[in-house]
Amino acid sequence: MTPDPTPTTAASAALFERARAVTPGGVNSPVRAFNAVGGTPRFIRSANGAWLTDVDGTSYVDLICSWGPMLLGHAHPEVLAAVGDAVARGTSFGTPTEPEVELAEEIVARTSVEKVRFVSSGTEATMSAIRLARGFTGRDVVIKFAGCYHGHVDSLLASAGSGLATFATPGTPGVPESSTALTLVLPYNDRAAVTAAFAEHGDRIACLITEAAPGNMGVVPPEPGFNAFLAETCTRHGALFISDEVMTGFRASRQGQWGLDGAVEGWRPDLVTFGKVMGGGFPAAAFGGRADVMSRLSPEGPVYQAGTLSGNPIATTAGLTTLRLATDDVYTHISSAAETIKAAAHEALDAAGVPHVVQTAGTMFSIFFRDPARGAVRNFAEASETDAAAYAAFFHAMLARGVYLPPSAYEAWFLSSAHDDRAVQTVLDALPEAARAAADAPEGAR
Ligand SMILES: Cc1ncc(COP(=O)(O)O)c(C=O)c1O
Repeated sequence: MTPDPTPTTAASAALFERARAVTPGGVNSPVRAFNAVGGTPRFIRSANGAWLTDVDGTSYVDLICSWGPMLLGHAHPEVLAAVGDAVARGTSFGTPTEPEVELAEEIVARTSVEKVRFVSSGTEATMSAIRLARGFTGRDVVIKFAGCYHGHVDSLLASAGSGLATFATPGTPGVPESSTALTLVLPYNDRAAVTAAFAEHGDRIACLITEAAPGNMGVVPPEPGFNAFLAETCTRHGALFISDEVMTGFRASRQGQWGLDGAVEGWRPDLVTFGKVMGGGFPAAAFGGRADVMSRLSPEGPVYQAGTLSGNPIATTAGLTTLRLATDDVYTHISSAAETIKAAAHEALDAAGVPHVVQTAGTMFSIFFRDPARGAVRNFAEASETDAAAYAAFFHAMLARGVYLPPSAYEAWFLSSAHDDRAVQTVLDALPEAARAAADAPEGAR
């Protein structure tokens, strides 16, 4: 497929106008609106393998993969067949079902968790894990890191307070100060800040939640030993360590980020949250962890948590089929495609003279448009130095050449096992011109 270099967007633009009349910003999740890069979001009609096709009939190599879930690519025939069979048996029963048990067994077998509870979104998973941690410990304070996103949970939509180890302020209107008054926001990869927070508030801290490898400020991997340090510090102070693997779970590696650190180093988080890949493109998520902690959940224990569509049979069937197909070969393929694209992007940006840093967590990666002399990006403050104008120019040049990147400089790039040579080559062919477009962008924060 040769992408049209100047694709029409008339049908997408018309739909966007209709959408804006009936939906805030015309989208049902903000980043889809292209506000960070400008222009008209493409309305996608269908997708197959590594390719998206929009309502104007233009096809794009998809480097978003539904923001992570589509590990096997779109419309995988075995996932579609399993979902079709499940749909034919009925779509929701409000009773326990077999696929829920099988998916829970699969997750327990692959990860550190002993028991798991299904919910419908990553937001619900982190919200419920925090409630459980508070219920289990009898404490109230939560620690999170600036730049880590855990869904739109009130207490986690928090900005850093005025100093280290001071309580946070709401990060958005609509979140009352009382909701963030028990949240401490610390700089990522900063052991001294964590130690200081525990020294000051240790006996009040219910849990520390972190992205297992942050992907929501661009990819900012934990420094070696950082997650182990967090787990050990929490344990020493009687707090729970919650590893948010909504993005990295079954994506960074077969066992998520934990497969790259905890499983190798010999430690386990107390609680883990999952989403995205484990739903196979349907709304399914989960939280799980130590059996003694999970058994505090209703109906076994006193901490209440529930959901009408939790463990929905279609979603759990899609997730189960996806995970069973997510073999070592899938991860090897995605890693190798990622390496090819990263190397070509680095070469193209270097050739165009665009300062940049490529960062990786397992099969996930992203490119920061910043001076490499300043070193790797370690935290949100450093991630914020990326040149957003250069990224916007790069993004649009890639889009015009048939590659759909995340429409924000602060997101991971996602690949799938369906990204074959043709899809990868389309990306490689687009990179040199896109790099030149980035070089010509108005001077930003470079
Ligand atoms: C690490 C992480 N946690 C939680 C969430 C929230 O998940 P959801 O969008 O399904 O509510 C996200 C979403 O991107 C995420 O990346």
